[in-house]
Amino acid sequence: MNLVINVRFESASVPVDESGRQYHLNVRRGDIPRYVLLPGDPGRVPLIASFWDEKRLLSSHREYVIYVGRYRGVDVAAVSTGIGGPATAIAVEELFRVGADTFIRVGTTGALRREIKLGDLIITSAAVRYDGVSRIYVDSEYPAAASLDVLLALIEAADELGVRYHVGITASSDSFYVGQGRPGFKNYLPKQWSDIHLRLAEVNVLNFEMEASTIFTLANIYGGRGGAVCAVIANRATDEFVPGAGVEDAIKVANEAVRILKEWDDLRAEKKITYLSASTLSEWYLRSRKGR
Ligand code: URA
Repeated sequence: MNLVINVRFESASVPVDESGRQYHLNVRRGDIPRYVLLPGDPGRVPLIASFWDEKRLLSSHREYVIYVGRYRGVDVAAVSTGIGGPATAIAVEELFRVGADTFIRVGTTGALRREIKLGDLIITSAAVRYDGVSRIYVDSEYPAAASLDVLLALIEAADELGVRYHVGITASSDSFYVGQGRPGFKNYLPKQWSDIHLRLAEVNVLNFEMEASTIFTLANIYGGRGGAVCAVIANRATDEFVPGAGVEDAIKVANEAVRILKEWDDLRAEKKITYLSASTLSEWYLRSRKGR
């Protein structure tokens, strides 16, 4: 546990302490690599790091547990966001300030479509913004889109690992219960939310979770990259719920996606190109994958 009492801060508007540490995450520039995995649950951070070759607990303050380490030669961090948009926005803000720019949510989710099985993974291409905090940053017409690089790296990793996955639009809500069409206490459920899970399924939204839209919106505003892979622990169409289903697969896919992204980023630097085209990716594939 890190204690930040009795530490002097620069100002109220820029809450950074005298050693340069951000107020909530308790980290400073140089502590965090560019690639960061973002689970909601602090307990999932050591699980993510258990697949790394080197790992170290860097900080634990409120809901923000932070490990840094190396996965197959790549510097990586895992930072829990807590549940929902506001706490996630704080994490992403402070991570950008210390030099991170690539964020992959590793979460759990409720599928809306019957054919998606518990334990499958959902890789999000874009998120419906049923959160509050991203609207403070920018109008609701602004799209919460995943970065194409991160999206492709997650798909590539899921393929390589041979897990079942789906790619598509996710809805991110600030509410686990009423906002996702679940009855509140004493069955409270305003009409506008009572069939939201059915209406979203009709327009081919795959799943509900609570953080992707915030990560994607902030990542796009600040010129970074965001992606999300979630394990399906609930299915709202079949009314099944198994906490933990698919979580290990989501973690493995996210870790592998970091390694793939690093290879692509190195290739981009080597070729002095900004965007990854299909032909650059096929060159990468022929060079590094074929014949393995
Ligand atoms: N997380 C959510 O936000 N909703 C679910 O149904 C399951 C996980």
